[in-house]
Amino acid sequence: MEYSTFQGKSFLKEVDFSKEELMYLIDFAAHLKALKQKGIPHAYLQGKNIALLFEKTSTRTRAAFTVACNDLGAHPEFLGAGDIQLGKKESVEDTAKVLGRMFDGIEYRGFSQEAVEDLALYSGVPVWNGLTDRWHPTQMLADFLTIKEHFGKLTGLTLAYVGDGRNNVANSLLVTGAILGVNVHIVAPEALFPEGEIVALAQAYADKSGAELLLTGDVKAGVKGVDILYTDVWVSMGEEDKFAERIEQLLPYQVNMELISATENTEVIFLHCLPAFHDQETTYGKKIAADFGLTEMEVTDEVFRAPLAKQFQQAENRLHTIKAVMAATLGNLFIPRV
Ligand code: CP
Ligand code: NVA
Repeated sequence: MEYSTFQGKSFLKEVDFSKEELMYLIDFAAHLKALKQKGIPHAYLQGKNIALLFEKTSTRTRAAFTVACNDLGAHPEFLGAGDIQLGKKESVEDTAKVLGRMFDGIEYRGFSQEAVEDLALYSGVPVWNGLTDRWHPTQMLADFLTIKEHFGKLTGLTLAYVGDGRNNVANSLLVTGAILGVNVHIVAPEALFPEGEIVALAQAYADKSGAELLLTGDVKAGVKGVDILYTDVWVSMGEEDKFAERIEQLLPYQVNMELISATENTEVIFLHCLPAFHDQETTYGKKIAADFGLTEMEVTDEVFRAPLAKQFQQAENRLHTIKAVMAATLGNLFIPRV
């Protein structure tokens, strides 16, 4: 009898799991979502202690890990940038060795991918990447669960990511789509295409899954016929000095009703990992309006509030998918080898 391939494993980047394992986690998340909706307890991590390390701010990821811990019967402990020594007065290696002796699992959100890899290497407990500058793997499970819920399948669909094509979310979408057999178009100016190394990695997976990948600066060609339009902020956390440059590069790539029409698909859906700049109800939104005369950025308010926009279903799915990853890698569940 083969037992789980998940137990004790970390989730640091999408390629840590096979296509079958990623699909298993997506389907397990759908099951956990149904249990939660029916009020059926699923405290698979009773008595476990989970460290939530956040070097960057977060609403969804922090909330999802916290509620997932509570639903699973585990205790979450938030350790923010101002709370612990990590990287400032104590190395990642030493911090990992300490936390690994106290906690059963560690979530990490921060800048460097190397830090999350070192936490896993030295802590000896499962580590989950809650976003680095390079990858956002837990986001991917929620995104592809949302797509599967909507379309009832993944294989053969086409997703166009429009905007900053070299950020963590774009990298992750390209590679995850390639693994899962979902065609991915990165629609961005050439200066913001993903790095060659990431494109080569994605292409190697696409060759196996049959997914078709396209990198193009031509908005019309890039979005024509797609099933899913996806965008993210033009300026990611840690790059806040780049607003002027990105607005100039990315304004033609704004997801507005004209771009929705250019898909020539009346069934197209819109996704966004959030947070989004779609109005002036934020400090940044107001500042951008004052400095650049731009009232909406990567997506217009009209698209954001249209029935085709599924970003809040997507945000809720962060909870169910993060729960699936924690339960599978840390719980004593019997999961047949996939
Ligand atoms: N999508 C996402 O990761 O949101 P937060 O930054 O709020 O966690
Ligand atoms: N690309 C964004 C994603 C936020 C969830 C960032 O890194 O800020």
